[in-house]
Amino acid sequence: MLGTTWLAYFENNAREDRAPTPALAAELPSALHGALAESLGRFQLGESAGGKIHEDIATLRDAALDPPTRRAIQLYIEEEWRHARELALVIHALGGELQRSHWTNGAFTACRRLLGLRTKMMTLAIAEVIGIVYYRALAAGLGSAGLSSALSRIANEESAHLDFQAAFFEHVVRVTPRPVRELHRWLLCALMLGVLIAACGVLWLDHGRLLRHAGCGPWAVARDCWRQLAARRFLGLPAGPTRALGFEHG
Ligand SMILES: [Fe+2]
Ligand SMILES: [Fe+2]
Repeated sequence: MLGTTWLAYFENNAREDRAPTPALAAELPSALHGALAESLGRFQLGESAGGKIHEDIATLRDAALDPPTRRAIQLYIEEEWRHARELALVIHALGGELQRSHWTNGAFTACRRLLGLRTKMMTLAIAEVIGIVYYRALAAGLGSAGLSSALSRIANEESAHLDFQAAFFEHVVRVTPRPVRELHRWLLCALMLGVLIAACGVLWLDHGRLLRHAGCGPWAVARDCWRQLAARRFLGLPAGPTRALGFEHG
């Protein structure tokens, strides 16, 4: 059920890459172009990742995987690659260059590969949370309609990705043998919390100035991240408020 529902979603959501409006650069102060292109470049690197999980998922042994779920995860990664291409178009429109590597991306990859599929999926789930909050903050706070439409389009898909992740982890808990089910859920919650705290810290360290320029303080970022998870009852978290989140999906 999980696999077939989400496989249909990803198949129906396939689309061509969209370029930003030509007015985008002119809508932003030129002094901001470099910092914005650099910041988006870090996210562009992250969106380009996932090649290993895309390749391995077909044969990985995990009780939570059936053929439609395996294929849905591949299409999910491919959608991230489309985000990477669309972000590259925004970066080029700002006169920026694509980045080849950065320590945050290396740390993210190392964390993802640490302990198998469920750690990889959890790292990706937290990356969705960070992406939603970051893209929406820039879309709302930098005063460019072109940037807003390009980033909101991506953020809305990240929101659906987080719905997928919430459903995936609900399924993971459901297929865990009953005697250890609660323990496994708590371990996943602890992993989620650890990755979330680290990711929020890195987000602020690396992108704090730009987020502040967009009108977002560190506590607002942390609160919005938490709300993204709570609103989806991720791993059974108590429900949180959804009104301020501007959800387009879920
Ligand atoms: Fe993405
Ligand atoms: Fe995503």
